Amino acid sequence: MTVLGGKKIVLGVSGGIAAYKTAHLVRLFIKAGAQVRVVMTPASKDFVTPLTLSTLSKNPVVSEFYSEENENELWNNHVELALWADIIVIAPATANTLSKMANGNCDNLLIATYLSAKCPVYFAPAMDLDMYKHPSTKDSFLKLKSFGNSIIPAEKGELASGLSGEGRMAEPENIVAFIENDITEKLPLKGKKILITAGPTYEAIDPVRFIGNHSSGKMGFEIAREAANKGATVILITGPTHLSIEHNFIQVVKVQSAQEMYVACNQFFADVDAAIAAAAVADYKPKNVASQKIKKNDVALSIELEKTIDILASLGKNKEKQYLIGFALETENELEHAKQKIIKKNLDLIVLNSLNDKGAGFGFSTNKVTFIDKNFVVEPMDLKSKADVAKDIISKIITHYNA
Ligand code: CTP
Repeated sequence: MTVLGGKKIVLGVSGGIAAYKTAHLVRLFIKAGAQVRVVMTPASKDFVTPLTLSTLSKNPVVSEFYSEENENELWNNHVELALWADIIVIAPATANTLSKMANGNCDNLLIATYLSAKCPVYFAPAMDLDMYKHPSTKDSFLKLKSFGNSIIPAEKGELASGLSGEGRMAEPENIVAFIENDITEKLPLKGKKILITAGPTYEAIDPVRFIGNHSSGKMGFEIAREAANKGATVILITGPTHLSIEHNFIQVVKVQSAQEMYVACNQFFADVDAAIAAAAVADYKPKNVASQKIKKNDVALSIELEKTIDILASLGKNKEKQYLIGFALETENELEHAKQKIIKKNLDLIVLNSLNDKGAGFGFSTNKVTFIDKNFVVEPMDLKSKADVAKDIISKIITHYNA
């Protein structure tokens, strides 16, 4: 996944020969994890079919204000479409469409959608070289830029007219790269590195058995996804889970035991700006690991346990610039225990989970947390999805770095 993952994109296609390339563009958006809805000008349908684009975008394509085919939905609502979008991309943007955008000449659904939009708009001009150079076109570019729209510059090369020069629509790969770069540049955690621990640890008893816990890793993975979506480079150090995550900004380091997690954390910690310990690290491990499978016999078996190293406390000790966040899972005297952990582990913030709260803790996709900062300011949060809790946690780091 890239920064386009989960983004809602309205692709506006106007009537130039480069419209045939939008089939590939839609595929790239979908591959990046975006949702796509296509609006076509009537003229563009001569260059690429609505069926092609609706099949690839997995959504109906709209072109007219009134839809004759669909009796249940006669009115194609440009306002709804524009407000649905996180970004609007007009590609290809012909001289005609650009001029209409610049002057508010609202004679088709694409322009109506554009004029209703509040989100960022990108446009990829496509026209012959002399049209591209014409003062009237340059005027449109300037006007659109002054509205805050972003131009994806045309490329040089052979044009449909047979001439060669500037005016070819940027290649779909370059359009996607341009938008991804632009979004990344503006992300609040761009340039920041964040270390996150997740999941349980497994402490070996013998070659086939271990001591573990029920942590699913969900909370840590959601935090990693959110941090990456906000532009951070993420090192996700995870114990064994069934989860997987694909994101250009996330490096996953898989470990088994607390000791392995400790080694991995300390390898990366000096270089990060923040660390979030969401892993459910085993507090104890067998003192001696049997080298062969332990055979059963008639008497009871006892296993001597020793303490694992406290990873978070070790990070707290070595902390310099890092903003350090820990979790606390408590069943009684929650606030008091959490505050003690802030001091003991030298934290900037603790995320308290109380098992007394319904829907919180292991296995749930929801969580109910309370934030306590190092000055003991307590902030109870509502029951939320783990994805939303992750957003709240990451926004604490954003606030810290932007305050
Ligand atoms: N933690 C850690 N290494 C450990 C144990 C815990 O890094 N060996 C981290 C967890 O990832 C979590 C925080 O410490 O962010 C709190 O863990 P918790 O188990 O609630 O607290 P403990 O310090 O282990 O104390 P107790 O079990 O007595 O509540």
